[in-house]
Amino acid sequence: VKKVGVLISGRGSNLQALLDSARAGTLGGDVVVVVSNVEGVPGLERARAAGVPALALPHRGRTRERHEQEMLEALLPRRLDLLCLAGYMRLLSPAFLRVFPAPVLNVHPSLLPAFPGVDAQRQAWEYGVKVSGATVHFVSEGLDAGPVVAQEAVPVREDDTVESLAARILEAEHRIFPAAVCRVLDGTCRVVGRRVRVEAGA
Ligand code: GRF
Repeated sequence: VKKVGVLISGRGSNLQALLDSARAGTLGGDVVVVVSNVEGVPGLERARAAGVPALALPHRGRTRERHEQEMLEALLPRRLDLLCLAGYMRLLSPAFLRVFPAPVLNVHPSLLPAFPGVDAQRQAWEYGVKVSGATVHFVSEGLDAGPVVAQEAVPVREDDTVESLAARILEAEHRIFPAAVCRVLDGTCRVVGRRVRVEAGA
């Protein structure tokens, strides 16, 4: 069974989508560890409710090096096949990404490369775009910058508020994240330069 680790910072609804998919047998692997950089967040409870080991490794009061070292100590022994960032609100340093032995995926609430960074749904709404959406991408150095695995467009409605738009984008995230994880785990994805190719028959 392929082993997936998940990093979170809060609510954990994307984590929940991954847990649900794993339970349904559609993820192509199991979530075996969840780490939050913030203590006491709902996502940690979701993990525990699903019987998945969950730990808080707070970044506060630690240097980036020390915090990432603690994460590596928690993650490396688990020999993960994939690390998923599910609402993980911190950048992983180039040093972490260099030593981490498995691919890292992130879900982002816009159609990248539009609106990277925090509050992407608000950025899109304020810009006045007619279509936004969700993106799953490999994590590389740089903010929300790696090769794109999956995207889903979400039309902006005339009567949308930031909140209603964000809610529909979140539903899209919950669809494309588990599906992208499955494609990466079953090896039908290949990164060729900027492009993520999905092998025929997948
Ligand atoms: C999601 O919109 C994710 O794309 C963004 O932060 C939000 C986290 O939500 N980076 P949740 O914790 O998965 O519910």
